[in-house]
Amino acid sequence: MSDLAPLFDPEQIRFSGSRNSWFLYRFNELDSTSDYLHSRTDSMPDRSVVMADSQTAGRGRMGRSWASPQGGLYASILLRPGPPLENASRLALLIADLVCDLLGESGISGLIKWPNDVIVGGRKLAGILSESGNYPGPWMIAGLGMNVAHLPGIPDSRGLPPGHWGGFAQPPLPVEILRNLLERLDAAWPDRNMDPIGQRLESIGSRLWCRGQLVRIVRGPETATGTVTGIDQEGHLLIVTSSGTRSFDSGELRPV
Ligand code: BTN
Repeated sequence: MSDLAPLFDPEQIRFSGSRNSWFLYRFNELDSTSDYLHSRTDSMPDRSVVMADSQTAGRGRMGRSWASPQGGLYASILLRPGPPLENASRLALLIADLVCDLLGESGISGLIKWPNDVIVGGRKLAGILSESGNYPGPWMIAGLGMNVAHLPGIPDSRGLPPGHWGGFAQPPLPVEILRNLLERLDAAWPDRNMDPIGQRLESIGSRLWCRGQLVRIVRGPETATGTVTGIDQEGHLLIVTSSGTRSFDSGELRPV
């Protein structure tokens, strides 16, 4: 870790009703917005938001890369001190739910592929990567990647079919989506000690991708098959298997 500081002043954004500002740093290109924050957890302010028009080394979950051509939304937020760990792990679910709220207002139906993806029209529209650490004090970084436009080359997605932007005449600018989401995040989670999904279990449960369907969940060497029924208060996925209901705190879902 270093004490690298950003080379320019951020745009300060404060929403009416929000207690604090966000500090938005915009770049044409970065290796990764999350990595930018990672190397500056000691020098960047709480509620820093780093956005890039493209990334050259975007990262996804499980060590995957995240293709990040121009036109998509790539942004990461830094919270320092980070929320209690149990709240941090649920933040990705809240962000996914907020993305679905935003889409819903434009007549687009988004589903949450537990634990951190948003699916539209059967394809992955967005993914969230949440990470935390303890240097120089507890911090958390949540990175959001969204395939805003109809772009080829996004992992797990060939882009959205034309006409999928519902109420929007054309895909909205990534920065507009980002602002909208930050405002929603402040409203839904005004205090980082709050459980991010306490009020949203029903909403998230009703939007679960493959709800009521048979799935395979893969967690390391372990695989289980069962029907998705919802999430519990911890944000764990509930699956009814042949040996009863099981809850999973991590794993990768695949339809059977
Ligand atoms: C996933 O679905 O695996 C999560 C993808 C997260 C990608 C975003 S793009 C902005 C931020 N910077 C990164 O390098 N990764 C996240």
